[in-house]
Amino acid sequence: MYVCVCNSVSDKAVRKAVANGARNFIELQQATGVGTCCGKCVGCAREVMLDAIEEE
Ligand code: FES
Repeated sequence: MYVCVCNSVSDKAVRKAVANGARNFIELQQATGVGTCCGKCVGCAREVMLDAIEEE
């Protein structure tokens, strides 16, 4: 599913960025571009990121 519609970032892409070392939202944004347009996805993207970090 898409987490960020504006930038076409999927939950898979967020998980991949975490697997590649993203550990906070700024790093996630730099890696994927998530949340850099309208910002509506930020809460959801953060949740997916935190889940992925927990699962590591
Ligand atoms: Fe992610 Fe708009 S949906 S910035």
